[in-house]
Amino acid sequence: MAASSSLPSAARCSLLLAAALVLVLSHGAHAQGAGLSSSFYDNSCPSTRDIVRRVIQDARVADTRIPASLIRLHFHDCFVNGCDGSLLLDDDLQEGITSEKTVRANNGSARGFNVVDDIKNALEKACPGIVSCADILALAAEISVELAGGPYWSVPLGRRDGTTTNIESANNLPSPFDSLETLQEKFRNLGLDDTDLVALQGAHTFGRSQCQFTQQNCTNGQQRGALVNLDGATPDVFDNKYYDVLLQGRAQLPSDQVMLSDPVAATTTAPIVQRFSGSQNEFFRNFAASMIKMGNIGPLTGKDGEIRNNCRRVNKKPY
Ligand code: HEM
Ligand SMILES: *[C@@H]1O[C@H](CO)[C@@H](O)[C@H](O)[C@H]1NC(C)=O
Ligand SMILES: *[C@@H]1O[C@H](CO)[C@@H](O)[C@H](O)[C@H]1NC(C)=O
Repeated sequence: MAASSSLPSAARCSLLLAAALVLVLSHGAHAQGAGLSSSFYDNSCPSTRDIVRRVIQDARVADTRIPASLIRLHFHDCFVNGCDGSLLLDDDLQEGITSEKTVRANNGSARGFNVVDDIKNALEKACPGIVSCADILALAAEISVELAGGPYWSVPLGRRDGTTTNIESANNLPSPFDSLETLQEKFRNLGLDDTDLVALQGAHTFGRSQCQFTQQNCTNGQQRGALVNLDGATPDVFDNKYYDVLLQGRAQLPSDQVMLSDPVAATTTAPIVQRFSGSQNEFFRNFAASMIKMGNIGPLTGKDGEIRNNCRRVNKKPY
């Protein structure tokens, strides 16, 4: 660029424009998760998918809820600092890490961390230092949906693990008591539109909620932590029945029901709920696309971040 000062001003101007365009493009590409590829581990650790699948299968025998718990971890990871495995870090005073696990949306609620540890241990045995914790969550989410009867999609991989947490952002995770406008804004801030919001909330087709978060707010004598099925029709199956339950006004979470009941729903989310209730194919197709979009939020790639040895801790720096 040293020669640019001798260029005619029109040429200099177009050079500046080109530079600005490159900046815009690379920023956009980052937001879309450029650098991720579903064949990322094909050479370095070809058994990755089989290993993740086997550990989840085993865990699910003892705990039918595990697939639901695992996909939720990917969601809470991606919404905070991008999909960088930050949610998995435990408190670590020495490294200055405050865990996201104790924020309101996660404390006594996010679960499945031991299964992630089991997956990581199995992967470290097969291919030490290769597969990131952030990718484990993305793969586990897809396999969990598939095992529960849902759609298959090819998961873009190649995320690296972050070395920090973000408590402020974790405190801003979607709440079951958020209005539809607030939910829409929280999703829009991450590049997710109304179709993504309605499709991704369809993950409440399986798993449980504590009754303290439900529309009913527990029944007489129930403890706040008593569990209810998020989808009363088919509690452990990944299907589109969740949307039927929603249309009957019987969704568990207020944040589910607002997609129909909020004043702005009629012109935004309600028609999408109708569409997904009417066609499981339509739901599955959109769910897979939205999961890929969510999984592409702000990943670390290339030389950024690290491949953690232990999903709960950042690697020790060489001194
Ligand atoms: C739109 C914003 C969302 C809100 C406000 C929300 C809220 C909640 C709440 C309150 C629970 C119950 C937690 C508990 O009782 O401890 C829950 C469970 C769950 N959420 Fe969401 N959620 C949202 C979006 C999502 C998304 C995008 C996904 C995945 C793609 C997801 C997947 C799940 C699953 C599978 C469970 C059950 C977990 C288990 O049984 O362990 N949710 N959600
Ligand atoms: C997390 O939950 C535990 C047990 O329910 C409680 O003792 C603790 O105070 C909570 N932590 C935060 C930060 O809210
Ligand atoms: C649910 O009920 C409990 C106990 O009556 C109350 O303290 C709490 O504020 C209620 N939650 C909501 C969201 O209304």
